[in-house]
Amino acid sequence: MPDSEHRTIGIFGAGWVGLVTGACFAELGHRVVVRDVVPGKIAALESGKPPFHEAELAELLERNRQRLTFTLDVGVLAAAAPEFIFVCVDTPPTYAGDADLSRVWTVVEELPRLDGHATLVMKSTVPVGTGEKVRDGLSTRGLDLGYVSNPEFLAEGRAIHDFMHPDRVVVGAFDDADGAAVAALYEPLDQPIVRCDVHSAEMIKLAANAFLMTRISFINEIANVCEATGADVVKVAEGVGLDHRLGPHFLRAGVGWGGSCFPKDSLALKQLAANSGYHFQLLSAVIEVNDLQKRRVIGKLQRHLGSLRGKTVALLGLAFKAGTSDLREAPSLVLASRLLAEGVEVRAWDPVADARQLIHGATFCDAYEDAVRGADAAVIVTEWPELRDLAKPEIRDSMRRPLIIDGRNLLDPDDVRAAGFAYEGIGRPTSPLDVLPETPEPADAPKPV
Ligand code: UDX
Repeated sequence: MPDSEHRTIGIFGAGWVGLVTGACFAELGHRVVVRDVVPGKIAALESGKPPFHEAELAELLERNRQRLTFTLDVGVLAAAAPEFIFVCVDTPPTYAGDADLSRVWTVVEELPRLDGHATLVMKSTVPVGTGEKVRDGLSTRGLDLGYVSNPEFLAEGRAIHDFMHPDRVVVGAFDDADGAAVAALYEPLDQPIVRCDVHSAEMIKLAANAFLMTRISFINEIANVCEATGADVVKVAEGVGLDHRLGPHFLRAGVGWGGSCFPKDSLALKQLAANSGYHFQLLSAVIEVNDLQKRRVIGKLQRHLGSLRGKTVALLGLAFKAGTSDLREAPSLVLASRLLAEGVEVRAWDPVADARQLIHGATFCDAYEDAVRGADAAVIVTEWPELRDLAKPEIRDSMRRPLIIDGRNLLDPDDVRAAGFAYEGIGRPTSPLDVLPETPEPADAPKPV
């Protein structure tokens, strides 16, 4: 890129979105100033350490050190005279379930007066209508700032890849020139850019997330019906997903969705609709299905073990998905607290997530082999690849009862049963513990109903 095309970009928020955005724009040749209010975070970044784990991020920050500045001081950001200011602060749910925009408003209040026109770019997920309110706030302060909504669609663990190879970039603007300037930043990525109004851009983000959650809750309900009818949801999802109108993604049945986005964004959209006088019935059901799905493993354990009081259960994987240490809204937290309430001895293992502050009363193990030793059941909660070889003879022999509940359908049921375990996945035919190893039905036996 010629030097004349290099821009200066300010970023508010050195969280996951802000740092990925900053590192990637620096990689594209732009100068980036990232400002955060947490001294520890800025100190860590100045010494070359990202404050959390994200694949490739540390390397990208290191490679672009010369183009990146980290600061606590809004004045440093202003002195760099950025043409774009990205807002990447978090918008957690309030007690009412709405998105809490207080950090966004703090940014609006703190924005420095710049020489010349600049554009404020909203990356944080905000309710529809926020752009209009922020634009009014900017004009009340007499700032010459355009406003663009540019939601992010990055998934944790692959965020750098997602930024550099997006399915699409969404740019919603009040003013065409501001929209064109932001779109130009993404042109080197050579991917579709959806230009639209600010309200629509805000809605695209909420609708995309809600649709993804709907797919997961849908396949989880199909899984539950599969369990009642003897079908196998993994095969069903394969057969459904090959229909080009439906596609194969987000059809993995499991213990329910969690993470930093889906739970808060589903509530925010539900409340946004409610605040506008509309009852979003489908989304309410999607959320409720997920809440129940997180607890279904308890019923599976009870079916195999009877009363859970005094039993020992190994929870394998605590992060909300593999590839991250993030525990926000992780199904493991619900499971652990339900099991502890039932009087279960919970032995927990995760290769990276540290849940000691969140799960009180469990025993934490450094190796999954330790977690399962003497256990009445092992539950796969996160699809960590190292659990693929869980069903080994030494694991079977070390457990009090060789029962695996596979909350992610990670293992091959036939292999696991052949290895002498009782196995139950999500939405797949199950095997009772008392027929270990499973014996085939005689050919003329009546089929179970
Ligand atoms: C998500 C969106 O993908 C991203 O576009 C948005 O910007 C932020 O939220 P993330 O939370 O990082 O990203 O994780 P993702 O990989 O999308 O998974 C979300 C949840 O759904 C996880 O709990 C995951 O385990 C679950 N999931 C996903 C399923 O249960 N089944 C699936 O088929 C896919």
